Amino acid sequence: MADPGAREQKLIQYLNEAYGKEKQLETVLQAQIGLAKSADRKPLQKRFQDHLKETKAQSRGIERRIKQLGGKAEAQSLPGPDIVSGAATGVANVANRALAAAKAPVQALRGTSEADNLLRNVRDAVWNEAEEIAHYDAIEALAENLNDKDTAKLAREHRRQEERMQKFLRGQIAQLVKAVVREEIPAKERSGNGGTSRSSSSRSSSSSRSSSSGSRSRSASSGSSSRKSSSGSSSRKPSSGSSSRKSSGRSPSVKKAGAKGGRASASRRSGGSSGGGSSS
Ligand SMILES: [Fe+2]
Repeated sequence: MADPGAREQKLIQYLNEAYGKEKQLETVLQAQIGLAKSADRKPLQKRFQDHLKETKAQSRGIERRIKQLGGKAEAQSLPGPDIVSGAATGVANVANRALAAAKAPVQALRGTSEADNLLRNVRDAVWNEAEEIAHYDAIEALAENLNDKDTAKLAREHRRQEERMQKFLRGQIAQLVKAVVREEIPAKERSGNGGTSRSSSSRSSSSSRSSSSGSRSRSASSGSSSRKSSSGSSSRKPSSGSSSRKSSGRSPSVKKAGAKGGRASASRRSGGSSGGGSSS
């Protein structure tokens, strides 16, 4: 094939960025399978395993499409020097780098208990799916703009797989939180009735938050408003499933450097997951 023109180069660029994400997530998923297994969460483990197969097939599909467009699969979104050697070496390097970048934060005990650790990983997995969905939205739109039906079809198929995975993961969160409660909150403190001042104040804060959401002037005049809004970000859409994003509050680069996360558990206990996430 002749050298790719600007049209093909742009398609190849975006495909390669999605490819880099998929290669990274192959490693992350392997670690997550291990976590789900050790927590004896069979449906979650099975879904991670199925999605690992899907993810590997996606990587191969993207690689194939890049070749058809006259390019070479190389994971551009990962850190490190250029991967410009032959395709096979390039993929091996990508995998090694993904391992280095992803292994530590996934496998380190980042939470305050095993259940908390698993919840955090599933929350991150939801976030990863959202990133992949955005990659494929962009690729599909670009391909449609450039009349590349094959690439648009590929992106659409991959995006649907990511959406299904994200939906499944979100459906797991309530159950995983129950396990966190069982492991970390003594039974007598769970109801909150006549409980500590801490639990009653957090409840009243959340109710006043919902009643005052959208009322800027009222927040501004209330002495404790900044604390309330920082704990909940009520201006974001509460029903859109943004809870993982909201509560993890973590950027990709911070997450990759997150090996220190386990040590932040004390601040997480006192400051909530948002504070702990940003310090990890
Ligand atoms: Fe995925």
